[in-house]
Amino acid sequence: MKIPDIIIAVDGYSSAGKSTFARSLAAEFGFFYIDSGALYRCVTLFALENGFIHSDMSLDEGGLSRALPGLDLVFTQTDNMRESFLINGRPVGDLIRSLEISNSVSQISSLAFVRDYVNGILQPYGKKGRIVMDGRDIGTHVFPNAQLKIFMATSLEVRSQRRYEEQIAKGENVTLEEVTQNLSKRDYLDSHREISPLVRAEDSYLLDNGNMTVASSLAWVKGLIQGKFGILE
Ligand code: DC
Repeated sequence: MKIPDIIIAVDGYSSAGKSTFARSLAAEFGFFYIDSGALYRCVTLFALENGFIHSDMSLDEGGLSRALPGLDLVFTQTDNMRESFLINGRPVGDLIRSLEISNSVSQISSLAFVRDYVNGILQPYGKKGRIVMDGRDIGTHVFPNAQLKIFMATSLEVRSQRRYEEQIAKGENVTLEEVTQNLSKRDYLDSHREISPLVRAEDSYLLDNGNMTVASSLAWVKGLIQGKFGILE
């Protein structure tokens, strides 16, 4: 299906399956996929490695704000939609997915100067369109004029069960209760922070993929796009 050079914003709660959905959508239309959360994770890694996050989780905000302009953060994407993030030229790999990073990223991403820094990297990608970007504030703040906005609001139960199964499959020693508590805490922090909290954009389409496969979510959005942009297949 050939579609216009639009921006597609995919927002929603942690572990709603945003990146799998957004990545498949980008692959389907030959668009560029951008995982905005990964940039917040990179800044968090930078903060940890440079001693701006102390062992008691307190933060040297002033130190981080002075150092951040010197951080060279770039990302590249391979043909199969896998991204590689580089911090001052060094690939970060899976380091940004560790529990240590997950535990501090909400605090880091709530800082205004961090959000400005990340948005400064994200926004130029909107110029040509043909992107799918996922995150928490893409349809509300980063690209309020995005032509298509999807909000993924899958129940906490479904998201916890999925995340729990993924972690068990990776050999991690967690209980369903721990996973549920962690997700519920992140939901709260993401939706109650002062700057750019996670809220559903009024002009977004709601996707609850609790009982849907990735293929059926894709079919749903393709139908939506056909209707919205008057595309005949
Ligand atoms: O999607 P994720 O779990 O990798 O995101 C990591 C963190 O970054 C999460 O706590 C929310 C934050 N985030 C944000 O504040 N705004 C975005 N656009 C994307 C992520």
